[in-house]
Amino acid sequence: MDQKSDSVQYKGNAGSYRVLVVDDEEVVRLVLGELLQPEFLLALLPDAESAVPFLLHAPPHVIVLDKNLPGFSGLELLQQVKALSPLTEVIIITGYASLDSALEALRLGAYDYLLKPFDNLDIILEKVRRAAEKAELAHERQSLLEQVLASNRELQLAHEMLKRSYLQTLSSMISALEARDSYTRGHSDRVAALSEKLGLAMGYQNEKLKTLVDAARLHDLGKIGIREEVLNKKSRLTDQEYEHIKRHPDIGADIVAHIEAYQQLVPIIRHHHERFDGLGYPQKLRGEQIPHAARIIAVADTYDAITSTRPYRQPRTPGESLKVIREEAGRQFDPQVAAVFLRLFQ
Ligand SMILES: [Fe+2]
Repeated sequence: MDQKSDSVQYKGNAGSYRVLVVDDEEVVRLVLGELLQPEFLLALLPDAESAVPFLLHAPPHVIVLDKNLPGFSGLELLQQVKALSPLTEVIIITGYASLDSALEALRLGAYDYLLKPFDNLDIILEKVRRAAEKAELAHERQSLLEQVLASNRELQLAHEMLKRSYLQTLSSMISALEARDSYTRGHSDRVAALSEKLGLAMGYQNEKLKTLVDAARLHDLGKIGIREEVLNKKSRLTDQEYEHIKRHPDIGADIVAHIEAYQQLVPIIRHHHERFDGLGYPQKLRGEQIPHAARIIAVADTYDAITSTRPYRQPRTPGESLKVIREEAGRQFDPQVAAVFLRLFQ
């Protein structure tokens, strides 16, 4: 029972189905009251207006409703019920003379109708019982549905958190890598920022954009598997050392492949050193065969690498780096990606 409104009061055994009787004739209220009181939580109302607070604060399972009420009519109340408390079932009381409008009430969503004068009270009781059971079943179904939806939401939340904690783990691995390899410190963040700008300019959004930025952030993760003396070598790499370094895209892709939520990052990381002309690694993919996001990261990666200090040389200027992007368009880089990059940054 709702305490907010004094006018909203049912009488009877707590825990029974709630029933409202709305009729302006006192004798009808008396007869139905006597009939229904022993079995239901009951409220007897003389007009339709009084029923509205019940719908708002303690919706009944069933309303037994006189169609011909003065003022706010039974059919108007029926429409209110369907809007405010759609699980409440309505049984319309009508006379033989207005049977047609009882049928209309059924079309408007009433459960059943009773004809006045009442000649068989047992039938009335049976109809109210069935309507109440139907409403209760609908309530149970609804709360089951709400539980399923709520646990789905929880599952989604847990999945999101898991994904985030994986990314945190991978980010810590990147930080560990960058601590080991001081020359590339901050490189992943800068490549991610450049890739995001490029992606946005090329129409990436939502999940696709997020995937691009995550992949850019993690593109060199595989360097964690490369020997430190090779990573930080100041002189020219031997062929063998170069082959060793060339394993990092596969190593990074294989690490990320263990994480279900990051499957879409795997090919991007694996192919970030492919070249548009097919002369890159690890698989010598060419042109459209290379994932588009990997072609974006390739440009951002090269630009940042050239302007950063490397173990074997001093940084070059942004102008020099842009010149390389321009010259390598169509060779190392996808010409469309290179063109967008030059438009954005030169
Ligand atoms: Fe790389």
